[in-house]
Amino acid sequence: MSSSAVPVKVEGASKKFRQGETIVEALKEVTLNVEEGEFLTVMGASGSGKSTLLHLIAGLTKPEAGRICINGEDITALSDRKLTMFRRRRIGIIFQSFNLIPTLTARENILLPATADGRLAEAEKALPTLLSRLALESRISHRPDALSGGEQQRVAIARALINQPSIVLADEPTGSLDSVNGQILCKLLRELCDKDGRTIILVTHEPSVAIWSKRIVVLKDGRIISNFETSTFKDSHSLASHYQGIVESDKNAVVAA
Ligand SMILES: Nc1ncnc2c1ncn2[C@@H]1O[C@H](COP(=O)(O)OP(=O)(O)OP(=O)(O)O)[C@@H](O)[C@H]1O
Ligand SMILES: [Mg+2]
Repeated sequence: MSSSAVPVKVEGASKKFRQGETIVEALKEVTLNVEEGEFLTVMGASGSGKSTLLHLIAGLTKPEAGRICINGEDITALSDRKLTMFRRRRIGIIFQSFNLIPTLTARENILLPATADGRLAEAEKALPTLLSRLALESRISHRPDALSGGEQQRVAIARALINQPSIVLADEPTGSLDSVNGQILCKLLRELCDKDGRTIILVTHEPSVAIWSKRIVVLKDGRIISNFETSTFKDSHSLASHYQGIVESDKNAVVAA
């Protein structure tokens, strides 16, 4: 493994699911490279394969064909035990549903991955900075049901970051938030990329969220059909109309991104 390796390399990955009698091809030979410190958004209609792609990168599921290399290591070849270790140490995952444990306080929820990994002392040292960054200092003794949706999502983010992963994956993280909290979260993700140099891959279908990233790939029927920088768009409205044009066109070519 080389430290200069591309953090995320998806090479010709295909994934199928059986649904009763039919086979759904969720991803078809997808190729995607994500550089260190990039902030990439994956967009696409419902069912286009966005979550499947993220799950492959997280090692939550394996492709039938192709390879997924994280920091130069082919994770499709890892045993389940090694995959779990890999996820805990290298990847922070944020989902739409916060998946907090209701009986634990915010603090205990945040420290859970570090506890599971025997890194509690290190995590406790890193905690104050993380809490202040996420404006959670006054909320850490509360259980999830005493927190607002925005606070619960920030706790989930703190939990994803507690082991200092270099790669952060987020699947519709603003889906359960109002627009104000959604924008606060986007700003945070952007800071993680700009200030900490983390590599971020975000799934969303909202242009107002996607505009915070640096590059966008669009999935359609399991294939990447577009790959473009966000810097050319002055606001999320111009991005939205460009995106609409792509998904409605029937002349899309498959691209490696
Ligand atoms: N575990 C599964 N079993 C069977 N089919 C699945 C499974 N996971 C995904 N699929 C199918 O694979 C396709 C891609 O699903 P995926 O969840 O990746 O889409 P998505 O782009 O994330 O959609 P959404 O925007 O609705 O979250 C869909 O047709 C879906 O029904
Ligand atoms: Mg999804």
